[in-house]
Amino acid sequence: MRTVCLSHEEDFEGWRDAARSLALARVPASDVTWQVGTGAHDLFADEAVRDAFDSPTFSVPRPFVELAGSVICHSNPERFSLLYAMLLRLHANPRTLEDAADPLLRRLEAMAKAVRRDMHKMRAFLRFREVETDAGPRFVAWFEPEHHIVRANAGFFVRRFAAMRWSILTPELSIHWDLEALAEGPGATRDDAPADDPIEEVWQTYYASTFNPARLKVGAMLKEMPKKYWKNMPETALVGKLIAGAQARESEMVAKSKAKLTGPEQAGLAAADAVERRLQPGGNALAAWEAILAEAKGCTRCHLHECGTQTVFGEGPLDARILFAGEQPGDQEDIAGRPFVGPAGQLFDKALAEAGIDRAATYVTNAVKHFKFERRGKRRIHSKPDGPEIAACRWWLEQELALVRPPLTVALGATAARSLFGKVVTISATRGKAHRLEGGGETWVTVHPSFLLRVRDDREAEYARFVEDLHRIGERAKALA
Ligand code: URA
Repeated sequence: MRTVCLSHEEDFEGWRDAARSLALARVPASDVTWQVGTGAHDLFADEAVRDAFDSPTFSVPRPFVELAGSVICHSNPERFSLLYAMLLRLHANPRTLEDAADPLLRRLEAMAKAVRRDMHKMRAFLRFREVETDAGPRFVAWFEPEHHIVRANAGFFVRRFAAMRWSILTPELSIHWDLEALAEGPGATRDDAPADDPIEEVWQTYYASTFNPARLKVGAMLKEMPKKYWKNMPETALVGKLIAGAQARESEMVAKSKAKLTGPEQAGLAAADAVERRLQPGGNALAAWEAILAEAKGCTRCHLHECGTQTVFGEGPLDARILFAGEQPGDQEDIAGRPFVGPAGQLFDKALAEAGIDRAATYVTNAVKHFKFERRGKRRIHSKPDGPEIAACRWWLEQELALVRPPLTVALGATAARSLFGKVVTISATRGKAHRLEGGGETWVTVHPSFLLRVRDDREAEYARFVEDLHRIGERAKALA
């Protein structure tokens, strides 16, 4: 039996180096124990493993590296052995990952999914409280993750809250951002974080004012936001009270409105109910979406709010399996307040229909939510959003992604791709294949429909290629179902 000692819970490099040497020395998974914390390997007592450590290594498929990067953050102590068992199999047969029914692969994928979900939850449910310090305000949040995701998620919070000093406290470790560097500290307890502050009050009032008892679905809400998170979220301090009165208030609302209705109106109400049911996988998600929409309407994250008429937010069912992101609203979208309704939108609709995708079942949005244009006489001419504008608006796209959690996200054009990838990418290098980005699901890239309106050469062939991309995306979305 060999013992491998890893330096911390999600020590991927430590696991990878040891696992490679062990695999090269053909050590079976049952002969290795994996530990975390202080202690030393006794790996190098074994000559074959020692030699293997220095010998040229072997390569594994990229998807396995990505899978292992997530699984390593899982709280199951068996994760290191399970990954090592899979590595041994890959060493013997590099096509092992192609067998989607393989029980070990399925188990690892389920673990990776749980980790991604936990990362999402931390992003969506963590709330900062403001504390005054000698160096100025610091924003402190308490969070209890299920898996070892804090380090893996740190980059997200640094990018998102780069301009404020913050600390995230968790039972396992704490991380602190001071505007320049990220530091790690020991784990904390709930009592180390402040309990109340003005941010909470504002948030609670806001949440209460957007709470609609008719939308309360406790089961779905619990599923969406497991109860263990409730106690740490200021708005959920209200949930108990709101739930308590919700049932009665909903019946009262329904009774009052139904009493006034005639036959055709009753039928209309039933239809509206059906649409509403389709729209909401859980009332909680819809209430959250509406709260975000209300905030986005008053967005001043960049100067573009001074441009255009209104914020044009995304639309579609919150349980959509495909989320399409375009660039920014155009002239007609700016007036209508809805995405993709102008000429590019009409072409998009036509292509979707030809590809067999029902637009009404998809969520359609843009990377940038305000129309940026230059005035030429009476005309408003589209102007491309720049990097800082895309980065500022990414906040909203991320909120939409966190709520919809589509298995498949599609970037229509380079601006959307830049927002989703977090960097400049070319259509030619990214088109036609699945990308796995932080946050889960697959991301696909294709051209923007307005490119098809502009292109001069081979317009028909370009259009056919776009429809082909959409068709493939539709089929893939079904396969991921
Ligand atoms: N172009 C986009 O990218 N989005 C729209 O909503 C309309 C045109």
